[in-house]
Amino acid sequence: MSPEADPAAVFEEGLARVSAQYRAVFAEAADEHALRAAGARFVGPQGELTRLMKLMPKVAPDRRRELGQKANAVKREVQQSLDGALLALERAQREADLSEPAIDVSLPGRGPVPGRLHPITRVTHDLLDVFGALGFDVADGPEVDLYEYNFDKLGFPPDHPATDMQDSFFVRTSDTRTLLRTHTSTIQVRAMLKHPPPLAIVSPGAVYRRDDDITHSPMFFQFEGLLVDEGVSFAHLRGVLTRFAQRMFGPDVGIRIRPSYFPFVEPGGEMDIACVFCRAWEGERARIAACRLCKGTGWLEILGCGMVHPVVFENVGYDPERYTGFAFGMGVDRVAMLKYGINDIRLLYENDVRFLGQL
Ligand code: PHE
Repeated sequence: MSPEADPAAVFEEGLARVSAQYRAVFAEAADEHALRAAGARFVGPQGELTRLMKLMPKVAPDRRRELGQKANAVKREVQQSLDGALLALERAQREADLSEPAIDVSLPGRGPVPGRLHPITRVTHDLLDVFGALGFDVADGPEVDLYEYNFDKLGFPPDHPATDMQDSFFVRTSDTRTLLRTHTSTIQVRAMLKHPPPLAIVSPGAVYRRDDDITHSPMFFQFEGLLVDEGVSFAHLRGVLTRFAQRMFGPDVGIRIRPSYFPFVEPGGEMDIACVFCRAWEGERARIAACRLCKGTGWLEILGCGMVHPVVFENVGYDPERYTGFAFGMGVDRVAMLKYGINDIRLLYENDVRFLGQL
C-alpha cells in the first residue's frame, strides 16, 4: 500500500482479494489442523480481515458504514464456509471410522496378567522338592497347640524361661495350656507319638512369636526336619544339610555348623551357608569385606540343628538306646530373603504387588 493510495480503495481491494481466495484455500486443507490454520489466515486475530479493519479509521467517514457492512458480510461468508468445511471433514472422518472393521486384528492382544505364587510359598515348594527327593515325608499339625508339645516334650525344663527364647502367644482355655506354636517342632512331637521309628519327616508351617522388627515378624514360616533310625549320626545330618544348601543356593555353596544350644538336641548347632551375595567361596577378599549381608564374615546363618536329645525320645516313647536321630529347623522367610536378596522381612507380609512383582 503506497501512502498516497486511497484507504477506501485499499480496503475494497483487500475484501475482494479475500472473497476471491478463501474457497480455494479451504478446499486445499486436508485435515482439521490445516483447515483451522487456513481459517486463521482470514478471520483469525492476525488474519487478513482483522488487518483490514485496522484501516477503518483512515477511511473517509462517509464510506465507513458501507465498507464496514461489506467487511462484515465477507467475514460471515468466510466463517460460514470454514464452519461448513470443518463439519464436512468431521463427517468424513466419522464415516471412515465406521466403515473400518470394528476389530483391528493386527493389534497385539491384551492378555490377562497371570498371578504367581508368593515367594514364601515358592521357597516352601522348593524345600519340599529338595527334601522329598531325599526321601522325607511331609507332616502337618495345628497352629494352636499344647504347651506340652511345644515345650515340655521337647525337653524344655519346667519353668524354663522359654518365653525369653521363644516369646509366646498364649491362648486362654479352661483346663489345658494352649498357645500359638512357636516352632513346628510340635509337629515332630505329634509324629513321634503316633508313629514308631524309623521316621523321616519335614514339617512346613506358620509359627508365632512376640517379635517384630526388620528381621523378625510376629508370624513367620518355619520348615523343620526330623530323621530317626538306628545308627543315625551327625555325619548324616551334615550330608543332608549340605545337599539342601547346594540344591537351594547353588552347587558351590559350602556350609559350616557352629555349636549352639537348643533344649531338644545334643549336640546342637547353628548352620551357616557361605555367603551367596559376595560368593565367599571364590575367596575375593575385598568383595567379602565389603559385603553388607554377611558383614564381611563370608557366612550367613540359616538354621538350627542337632542330634535329637535322648530325653525327647523318652518323652515320646522311643528307645533312646536303640535309636538316634537328627533334627533341623529354619525360617522359610529367612531362606526367601537370602534367595532373593530381600533386606526387610516385612516386605514379605505386606503383599504389595509392586514389590512381589519384582521377585
Ligand atoms: N525349633 C527350633 C527353633 O524354632 C529350630 C531347631 C529345630 C533347632 C531342630 C534345632 C533342631 O528355634
